[in-house]
Amino acid sequence: MAKLSVITAPDPRLKITAEPVAAVDHGVRALMDDLLETMYAAPGIGLAAPQVGDSRRVLVLDIAHREEAPNPLRVANPEVLWASQETSVDEEGCLSLPDHYGDVKRPAKVRVRFLDYHNATVEIMAAGALAKCLQHEMDHLDGILFVDHLSLLRRNIILRKLKKAKKLGPQPAMARP
Ligand code: NI
Repeated sequence: MAKLSVITAPDPRLKITAEPVAAVDHGVRALMDDLLETMYAAPGIGLAAPQVGDSRRVLVLDIAHREEAPNPLRVANPEVLWASQETSVDEEGCLSLPDHYGDVKRPAKVRVRFLDYHNATVEIMAAGALAKCLQHEMDHLDGILFVDHLSLLRRNIILRKLKKAKKLGPQPAMARP
């Protein structure tokens, strides 16, 4: 496994639509493992391949609390089969938009089909934090960031601050090997 570097916004690589994988083979499993290692090190609760510059429809997440045992989910080619009319609004953050948060409204429950680590087709009904995180990571596969769900004004404020932070160079926390 290898820890990868996470791309921060604004960056055109975060805006591309990722391509489905033909199957979850050794190469895709290696990507899933690297994404998980990178996510846990950050630390974060979800990470999608485009965030590390890989344009395959692959993502990982783990919404287990710190005191709980790790419970990683490795996902390829996810599709929303059903979304509830009921919505929920929760604060979201993103490893590609460090130190910025915003309230995002999404369907409260979703049924999602995907290929798992063993290339088996799996369907899950997600609610709560899992539904929120899955939808956030799936957005990344279509080049959508959580700020794209905010008002134009709010989005521009955040992106302008991130652009400025990039010009100032890596912060001490990011400069570690
Ligand atoms: Ni994100």
